[in-house]
Amino acid sequence: MPLVFAHRGSSYDLPEHTLAAYLRALDEGADGLECDVRLTRDGHLVCVHDRRLDRTSNGHGLVSARTLAELETLDFGSWHPGGVAAEGDEPLDESHTRLLTLERLLNAVLAAGRPVRLLVETKHPTRYGRDVERRLVALLRRYGLTEPRPDDPVRVTVMSFSPLAVRRIRDLAPSLPTVLLLEVLPRWLRLGRLPFGTRIAGPGIALIRARPQLVPALRAAGNQVYVWTVNEPEDLELVLAAGVDGVITDRPARTLARLGR
Ligand code: G3P
Ligand code: CA
Repeated sequence: MPLVFAHRGSSYDLPEHTLAAYLRALDEGADGLECDVRLTRDGHLVCVHDRRLDRTSNGHGLVSARTLAELETLDFGSWHPGGVAAEGDEPLDESHTRLLTLERLLNAVLAAGRPVRLLVETKHPTRYGRDVERRLVALLRRYGLTEPRPDDPVRVTVMSFSPLAVRRIRDLAPSLPTVLLLEVLPRWLRLGRLPFGTRIAGPGIALIRARPQLVPALRAAGNQVYVWTVNEPEDLELVLAAGVDGVITDRPARTLARLGR
């Protein structure tokens, strides 16, 4: 039975990367949460997917050009139908609209009182030199999360499309599991040996639709396979038939229901 990860929280129903979207995913029974992190101008790790603010907030311009205090004044929820109260309803609380820092997400996950896997994806690692990875590892170390044991309730895995970022994480925290994300299959990739000791491959669903045999090939070579972003029922059937270890989805409730959980 694959693990079910909520991609940016329950982000079909609620605004992505908000605390409300993550708490909903935990309520729905997701095994884990996926989140993208970027650095603010003053070096804080915040959960935002895009390089720019424009799509998911009422701000404009680059996330990296703003301080945390500046970002805290923005509304990250009202762009999405789930971030706005229905007519006649009580106003939604700030968990639907406030910027989420990685530290606040960690605190929420640690307070959940049940096992949670957290997949943290670093974005654009070359833009900040080693800073994203260094600050991420420092934060995780402060929370005692860099040397996960199987019975730890909260376990963090770091993901990136960039082999360079994966390598930096492996250098800084060799015990932290990593996922190499794959949009396409690079020529240099050897299925039997992912780079820098990574043991989890993260192919996109488009790649698996084109080459479903990749899943058993990666698994036969001793890797786990987490596929993103699996939202359509036919895609879910495809990855279940292929035997994946993890499904990353915007719709964890629907995915869990299909799995009879
Ligand atoms: O879970 C991996 C997936 O999130 C990668 O793509 O663009 O949604 O960050 P993206
Ligand atoms: Ca992501």
